[in-house]
Amino acid sequence: MIDLRSDTVTKPGPGMLEAMRNAPVGDDVFGEDPSINQLEKLAAERFGMEAAIFCPSGTMTNQIAIKCHTQPGDEVICDNLSHVYRYEGGGIAFNSGCQVSLLQGDRGRISATQVLGAINAVDDHKSHTALVSLENTANRGGGSCYDFEEILKIKEVCRSNRLKFHLDGARLFNAIVARKEEPKAYGDAFDSISICLSKGLGCPVGSVLLGTRDMITKARRIRKVFGGGMRQAGFLAAAGIYALNNNIERLAEDHKRAKQIADALSKKDFVGDIMPVETNIVIFEVKGRFLAKQLAEKFAEQDIKLIAITSTQIRIVVHLDISEKMCTEILQIIQSL
Ligand SMILES: Cc1ncc(COP(=O)(O)O)c(C=O)c1O
Repeated sequence: MIDLRSDTVTKPGPGMLEAMRNAPVGDDVFGEDPSINQLEKLAAERFGMEAAIFCPSGTMTNQIAIKCHTQPGDEVICDNLSHVYRYEGGGIAFNSGCQVSLLQGDRGRISATQVLGAINAVDDHKSHTALVSLENTANRGGGSCYDFEEILKIKEVCRSNRLKFHLDGARLFNAIVARKEEPKAYGDAFDSISICLSKGLGCPVGSVLLGTRDMITKARRIRKVFGGGMRQAGFLAAAGIYALNNNIERLAEDHKRAKQIADALSKKDFVGDIMPVETNIVIFEVKGRFLAKQLAEKFAEQDIKLIAITSTQIRIVVHLDISEKMCTEILQIIQSL
């Protein structure tokens, strides 16, 4: 079975398992897990940020960040397709009591001009605009990447309007590799960054939230309230350390394979628009002979799992567990349909 539904489906390989097996652990609620402490230090240093906190999921790191940066009744500016708004169970309202100001970006990416236009005036009738949240790469934008210049422009809008600036970087390393960028530039630009270890980097569990020392102290308290205080989770942190040291540069292979798959799809009469492939995600329109669900079933008959994300769109995500041989097989199956 070749699973292209998400990059979350990867299983730890021998190197990662060995690192997990050998991890020194302790009770992290007491701050005594050496592997978690090491992961948090490594991640913070990589981005040039003061501190970090290891959490079970990217939803938790995003939601903790939003809670750290806002008060109930505040407004959060984000793209209409963003994960924090669409796919975190209404968490912005549930956890932080905030409302959202949704922007129609370009494949999940919003601009500084749009952000500026969405900031509420100081007025008793209006919600207080507190936070701007970006997503890079943007999942529903087909793995699209921000131009870093635009991020700097948005940062300036945030600075001059006293707004906090958060990045949902669930797949930030995909953007960094694709655009040949430096993690520290992101650390400079944002007040907080969430990175996921359990997506392109191949870990079984885990995300890290980065920020200032004060913010992360607050985040630690909120994580406890959310029920995310973990004990001997250093076995999982060890997988994260392994991933940060071994699984980043190789993301370029996933990007290359995603492009090959998009290329093969572009030659088929049942494929309409394909979103530009910038990283490891391919989102394409299905037309003619099939509905998206029917095409997904056709692939399933050939032992390939993929997801119909709407009645007319399919998403394919390439990841660590898709080998060169599997990619060749996928290309052959696409040709045969
Ligand atoms: C862009 C983005 N942000 C956040 C998340 C949440 O991560 P998790 O599934 O670990 O909660 C996801 C998950 O797919 C995602 O794609």
